[in-house]
Amino acid sequence: MWHARGQVPARVNARVNARLAVALAAGYGGAMRELTMRVPVDTKLTWQYEMREPRVLSLYDRAKVSQWNASTDVDWSLEVPFGASIADDSRYSIASFEASPIARRGRRMWDVFRWELQAWMVSQFLHGEQGAMVAAARLAEVAPSLESKSCAAIQAADEARHVEVFSRYLHEKLHTIYPVSAALESLLQDILGDSRWDITAVGMQIIVEALAMAAFRLADSTFHDDLIKEITRLVARDEARHVSFGVLSLQGVYREMSRAEFADREEMVLEAASLTRRRFLLEDVWQRLGIPRAEGAEFAATSEMMMRYRQTIFTKVTTALRNVGLLTDRVRSGLAGLDLLPRGGGEHSLGSRQNGLIR
Ligand SMILES: [Fe+2]
Ligand SMILES: [Fe+2]
Repeated sequence: MWHARGQVPARVNARVNARLAVALAAGYGGAMRELTMRVPVDTKLTWQYEMREPRVLSLYDRAKVSQWNASTDVDWSLEVPFGASIADDSRYSIASFEASPIARRGRRMWDVFRWELQAWMVSQFLHGEQGAMVAAARLAEVAPSLESKSCAAIQAADEARHVEVFSRYLHEKLHTIYPVSAALESLLQDILGDSRWDITAVGMQIIVEALAMAAFRLADSTFHDDLIKEITRLVARDEARHVSFGVLSLQGVYREMSRAEFADREEMVLEAASLTRRRFLLEDVWQRLGIPRAEGAEFAATSEMMMRYRQTIFTKVTTALRNVGLLTDRVRSGLAGLDLLPRGGGEHSLGSRQNGLIR
């Protein structure tokens, strides 16, 4: 069954809404509590030490010389004026403010909102990075070749550094942290709670990583201090390698899959996309600012600026999906139904200031 406006399978949205309702009722997105999953996987060791995957090996080699140290390669002396006035307001930003539910609280509140949004985004990066660390460790465990195991293992080390750097930024500079959003937690459960390795790889390497990389590359036009811009520049370099590793690992996998198994993957991609879109309705931020969640979410869903931001960062995901053979008509249609594809079929280019968030 499909939505009237076209393309998102209604059951995907219904399932996402039902899951998030349960999650919110259970206190997700509010409490910092552990997430535990029991997953049976095929742990593999290989005695084949002859390298046979030169492209994966070359990614591993690149990773070895690209290591950086979160303690010494980041200028932690940079001050972060969290909560201060944000001087450079574009006409675009003012128009967004005036259309937002924050307008009635006055101009000062717009700055508060933008800083809170930054704190929320970095917090979700942090939680996603921890998920990426665990997913990479899983891939090291289940990958059949030594090259892939090594690439996944060095990725796990990269992700540990990303966790470190975002955690330090939040704790030392912003002195605040948002809990994992219900939508991200659900997505991480889907990705890590599945014993099929390709689901973990698609969810993490193709969707979460590509999205994060795109968001990091827009940091200059999204974030409000030099320290986070420096951090995201360093992290984005690593993420580009991780997406490439995901694409290499998954190449050819879907050509050999049965129709039913492949349909399962399409559904997973759409559910992940729906959860991602839902995450960017910023319900946790509205709640912290005392704006009714539904009103804030409605603004985030329909605001041109927010829609354009979601579409821009999703461009990297659609490219990666295409590269592994998962951007089928059904998936493309579903993404269009979620407003995650640019109107008219063109692709937004990353890096343009106008594509940044509320600046
Ligand atoms: Fe990462
Ligand atoms: Fe990564």
